[in-house]
Amino acid sequence: MKTRDVIIACDFKSAEDTFAFLDKFNGEKRKPFLKIGMELYYAEGPSIVREIKRRGHRIFLDLKLHDIPNTVRKAMAVLSNLDVDMCNVHAAGTIEMMRAAKEGLTRADGSRPLLIAVTQLTSTSEERMQNELLINASINDTIVKYARNTKEAGLDGVVCSPLEAGMVHEACGEDFLTITPGVRFADGQVGDQVRVTTPARAREIGSDFIVVGRPVTQAEDPVAAYRRCVKEFCGEE
Ligand code: C5P
Repeated sequence: MKTRDVIIACDFKSAEDTFAFLDKFNGEKRKPFLKIGMELYYAEGPSIVREIKRRGHRIFLDLKLHDIPNTVRKAMAVLSNLDVDMCNVHAAGTIEMMRAAKEGLTRADGSRPLLIAVTQLTSTSEERMQNELLINASINDTIVKYARNTKEAGLDGVVCSPLEAGMVHEACGEDFLTITPGVRFADGQVGDQVRVTTPARAREIGSDFIVVGRPVTQAEDPVAAYRRCVKEFCGEE
């Protein structure tokens, strides 16, 4: 059976705000898997990763690297020392860049965090992709092509919208991971996300991990909102 999990996007501006949020989960028997993104990492640096790790959380370090292969290889070698569980790059950086990322991330003993690639950001519409990025294809074909490139580079999976998880699995196999932001409760606000769906629907389509930010972090009761995600997506209390 596949392991599904909910990842909370800790999009906070400081360690103080992050720990005030995490303290609410102290009594929970399920320790949430957390995503640390650019805002928090750039504000606090590697120490925030170590502190959260010390509290026993699994961590997805979402820095979306996209640069020349040599730079990405070296940056990934540095991140590898932080002992996170998942890292990522932009698939738009090419297969060569993704291979370099994997090489850099792999430690001397052969171990490494999971490495995934962003296909198209869930805030990007097909119209913008075609008109502003001049990608002359449908968004679905672009996502499937980027996913195939990611697989060819030897990575573990992609970040995509939950709406695209099914077609990515069809193209790249059931074991190829789909990590899907763009998740909203049926009765919630969409905000700046475009290609969104609910935790329950994400499960039906076949996401392996959903990434949920504001629907949990901005909720009146974040623990209740997290539990609701787990219940809808993992089918557990
Ligand atoms: O608040 P919200 O649920 O929209 O947060 C989604 C999180 O997932 C944010 O941290 C955002 O940076 C991230 N993300 C995304 N779309 C991608 C990749 C990452 O929304 N394609």
